[in-house]
Amino acid sequence: MNHIPKRYTVTAALPYANGPLHIGHIAGAYLPADIFVRYLRLLGQDVVFICGSDEHGAAITLRAKKEGVTPKEIIDKYHFINKKAFEDFGISFDIFHRTSEPLHYETAQDFFKTLDAKGSFEIQRTEQFFDEEFQQFLADRYIMGTCPKCGHPDAYGDQCEKCGSSLNPTDLINPRSILSGKTPILKETKHWYLPMQHHQQWLEEWITTGKFEGMQPPIAPHNPEAWKPNVKGQCLSWLKDGLKSRAMTRDLDWGVPVPVKEGEGKVLYVWLDAPIGYISATRQWAADNGKDWRLYWQDENTRLIHFIGKDNIVFHCIIFPIILKAHGGYVLPDNVPANEFLNLEGDKISTSRNHAVWLHEYLQDFPGKQDELRYVLTSIAPENGDSEFTWKDFQTRINSELVAILGNFVNRVMVLYHKYYQGVIQSERKKFLLAENEQIVRKTYDALKENIEQYKFRQALFEVMDLARYGNKYLTENEPWKRFATNPQQAEQTLTECLLLIAHLGACLQPFLPATAQKIFTMLNLENPSIGWNNPIELKKGHTLNNPQLLFEKIEDEIISQQIEKLKQAKMGNKANSPVITNTPPAKPEITYDDFAKLDLRVGTILEAQKVPKADKLLQLIIDTGLDKRIVVSGIAEHYKPEEIIGKQVTILINLAPRKLRGIESQGMILMAKDDQGKLHFVCPETVINPGADIA
Ligand code: MF3
Ligand code: ZN
Repeated sequence: MNHIPKRYTVTAALPYANGPLHIGHIAGAYLPADIFVRYLRLLGQDVVFICGSDEHGAAITLRAKKEGVTPKEIIDKYHFINKKAFEDFGISFDIFHRTSEPLHYETAQDFFKTLDAKGSFEIQRTEQFFDEEFQQFLADRYIMGTCPKCGHPDAYGDQCEKCGSSLNPTDLINPRSILSGKTPILKETKHWYLPMQHHQQWLEEWITTGKFEGMQPPIAPHNPEAWKPNVKGQCLSWLKDGLKSRAMTRDLDWGVPVPVKEGEGKVLYVWLDAPIGYISATRQWAADNGKDWRLYWQDENTRLIHFIGKDNIVFHCIIFPIILKAHGGYVLPDNVPANEFLNLEGDKISTSRNHAVWLHEYLQDFPGKQDELRYVLTSIAPENGDSEFTWKDFQTRINSELVAILGNFVNRVMVLYHKYYQGVIQSERKKFLLAENEQIVRKTYDALKENIEQYKFRQALFEVMDLARYGNKYLTENEPWKRFATNPQQAEQTLTECLLLIAHLGACLQPFLPATAQKIFTMLNLENPSIGWNNPIELKKGHTLNNPQLLFEKIEDEIISQQIEKLKQAKMGNKANSPVITNTPPAKPEITYDDFAKLDLRVGTILEAQKVPKADKLLQLIIDTGLDKRIVVSGIAEHYKPEEIIGKQVTILINLAPRKLRGIESQGMILMAKDDQGKLHFVCPETVINPGADIA
């Protein structure tokens, strides 16, 4: 087949590094983006999947202020927490970059300079809100007041979260400073504005017809019919109101510095710098992988797709396109499939009220069950309107869909095949014997393609589950467990047909439930296939299947009540006002005192320390245990330098059987405590005491 790959640049909104991710973020942008990208990769398309932390803006500085730490501490903490949560959840970014990286500063500053040189900005001296008590201009989220559009009393200076309107601080009724709580005064300052009204016309044309007068490569037309009605609707309502000038710089000390003279002390507006972060991330990825980043942003055959939540629509459909076009040489988005919001147990998800299911907490509470959450969140994705997550529904979908339909079908077939044929394929099967089986599989692939290409992931997954439903029914109706005695040939045919159904089912599941699909192909002992009828799956005669393993387990009522209780507690304020990051490992089973008494724990003093050659993690220590001086090899080299720990006291387990590490015999173990960030700490007495002191 002569396959010319299409090129896609797929971005998912850069999450602010001011807090952890919750299921609303995941269902809104990251999971649909991941499904789409995994699908494209399976088809062999040339795709780059971009994300990273958005590390500027008032969201970060406000959080830092609240926690009494520096912005840098905040972004480091949440960047790594979010990066890991995405990885553990199977979101397959090609890069998860940061807007605090020098390459991003360079890229964003270049953009600013180019736009400035082209006369795309106008400088305005205006009066802006200023907090006299704090001696600070109040940008965006530093100011709150009543929304002029909907009357919401807690709208921010840049946006009303209730009605989604984008605002300027001076639009607010009864403005108040969030620093002092007082009414701010107006004071003169100077900023670079983007006169968006100059772009009104081409944007209107572009959004409604997919092209505009004077459009030039690399900008290619998009299909306006393919844009979701909610996205187009929001854009048109903006355009109808008439675009206005918007300041692209801020009087803040946290952000990308304005790179031109007279801009000293000012930074780029976060919504100017953050979307450019997609480009910096692509540049970094390209540099790391020997690619040319320009192809992914400046070539007319590239489709740029932004996955976002609905509160980001205006920035991705209006402001960023203006910036890209004003700069010149860049493509514009082919589509911006924004989702609506996900509610939780009858209420809005809220970070400030801690009414949320945090992704990293879910992954701790349900280890290895990332596909279960992927399944539920895709099934209820807020694609056409707000939708709702409840723990009861989560349980029902897992127990009566994943376990009872998909898991049950796969397991029954695998167990029977092993029971009757020891897992050895009896007759070769490339195509289905039964026309009906072939038809339903083809239909599933067609429906999958159609729905995914229209960003209808909910329906796409439903179609795949329909194939599992069909398989279950087919198996039940043909009763191979009865036929095995009366008509063994037919029993074998049915079961082999079922195996082929499972293989196709596994192929279709890959974008949605990657770990489950992997388990299926491991059981089938087959390579992971591509996706589509044209990539036939073959069962050779004599091929051996691996042992069956359960795909899903039932979620018990108790687990669900615990989660519901956890939400209630959080809401009642038993938890701090903001989410607490815990990586606390689960409790271990009870032991007796005798179990404990077997451990000979002592206070020891580190006499010498040196690195173990060719081992990044290991230090070789000599410890005074009071009884003797012995060698202990400890995995702490990434946390401590040898010279800084000499003389330190530690807790040492001295009756652990000796063990060789890198050829050195370690005669005991030092106890370390691991904190939330994974850093290790010594466990030691409050003051220096005699080595050999017994710990009990
Ligand atoms: N950090 C923003 C938010 O969470 C999204 C930024 S998307 C980007 O709402 F385009 F600016 F990167
Ligand atoms: Zn409003």
